[in-house]
Amino acid sequence: MNEPAQDKTFHRQDLARRIAALVLTDDLTSAASSGFFLSAPRRTGKTTFIRQDLVPQLESMGAHVVYVDLWKDRARDPAELIAQALRSALADLGPRALKWLTRLGIKGGRVAGVEVSLDQIGIGKSMGLGDALAALGGATDRILVLIIDEAQQANTTRAGADAMFALKAARDELNMKGKGLRVICTGSNQNKLAALTASKDQAFFGASRSDLPPLQRPFIDWICQQARSLPGTLDPEILMALFVEAGHRPEFITGALDDARFDLSLEAGQLMDAVTGYVRARMKAADEATLKVIRSLTPLQSAVFRVLAEQGAGYVPFGESTMALYARYMGEVTSPRPDTPNVQQALQSLQEKGLVWKASRGEYALEEPAVAKLLPKAA
Ligand SMILES: Nc1ncnc2c1ncn2[C@@H]1O[C@H](COP(=O)(O)OP(=O)(O)OP(=O)(O)O)[C@@H](O)[C@H]1O
Ligand SMILES: [Mg+2]
Repeated sequence: MNEPAQDKTFHRQDLARRIAALVLTDDLTSAASSGFFLSAPRRTGKTTFIRQDLVPQLESMGAHVVYVDLWKDRARDPAELIAQALRSALADLGPRALKWLTRLGIKGGRVAGVEVSLDQIGIGKSMGLGDALAALGGATDRILVLIIDEAQQANTTRAGADAMFALKAARDELNMKGKGLRVICTGSNQNKLAALTASKDQAFFGASRSDLPPLQRPFIDWICQQARSLPGTLDPEILMALFVEAGHRPEFITGALDDARFDLSLEAGQLMDAVTGYVRARMKAADEATLKVIRSLTPLQSAVFRVLAEQGAGYVPFGESTMALYARYMGEVTSPRPDTPNVQQALQSLQEKGLVWKASRGEYALEEPAVAKLLPKAA
């Protein structure tokens, strides 16, 4: 007999309810209507939580949700990905949307009309993102929630930054008339997300920010219940300690359980020792892969990377004192000289190696903040 299909997700419904209530509130004293920024470190379950728990919760509370992942296709401009998500949301509504699109002056036609007219949506096109959102709001007659996963990517291109401003304008417009628009942005790096909220000239200045709590012991207990085909019994106490050691990243645990599953010489009594070894081996392998990239940097690239890691949000790439710091980190090596063109080139190479992130306005950040902790080992 077939076993019932296993739900592959551990659900956090209470957390989803709490966040959904915060987001949908019409409390005038809450900053939630300006936008809600949710961050958590990489690979800790942001997307899973949003798609599996938060979206259904928001929908069950009457919202119409549009989800867009700006990492889905890194070759495409974030503005285009946002426009594409709105186009598909409108296309899904079919004739209901057509009426609203026509009302806003977008001419469609016959059967394929919706498709044809939707091409006109986007930054710099005849129908802006705001109009598309107004049509969505009108056609659904519901509060709209736009979720932008990896929202920091919007700031890496000019069009992406423009898209965020267009969303801000739409948010103000729809919150004044109509059922309202809430924007939820997620990301894994506080510094990068801060670029969208921290200064007055940013689209989401003043938006509320929260850290998404990591998965905890109930997740580990769930893993222990779900795990099959292991040669012994899992000890949740030990597994939890390993989960914390692995930065609350589920893949280190599930991967190590797989390693144990396929280790055919393993006896029941050795299971937890083996799992411990496998989790640590996986963490070490992940660190080694990054260290290999760091060790292959040229002296100037390495100096630039270290100074950026050290200074974080206060990093000024081409300042006089920063140049002196690069030189100090380079020690005996004097070529290539730390001057503006060479530093610019080093930053470009660091971006290509996936170590550094750059906003379209010129701010830099570590692609992965956790890498800073590895630097002493790379020396
Ligand atoms: N609630 C959960 N139940 C089961 N597995 C989970 C859960 N949350 C995360 N995982 C697993 O952990 C891994 C990372 O999850 P996810 O992609 O959601 O994280 P993320 O924080 O969005 O990652 P990224 O930083 O790459 O965007 C995936 O393999 C996913 O299946
Ligand atoms: Mg994700």
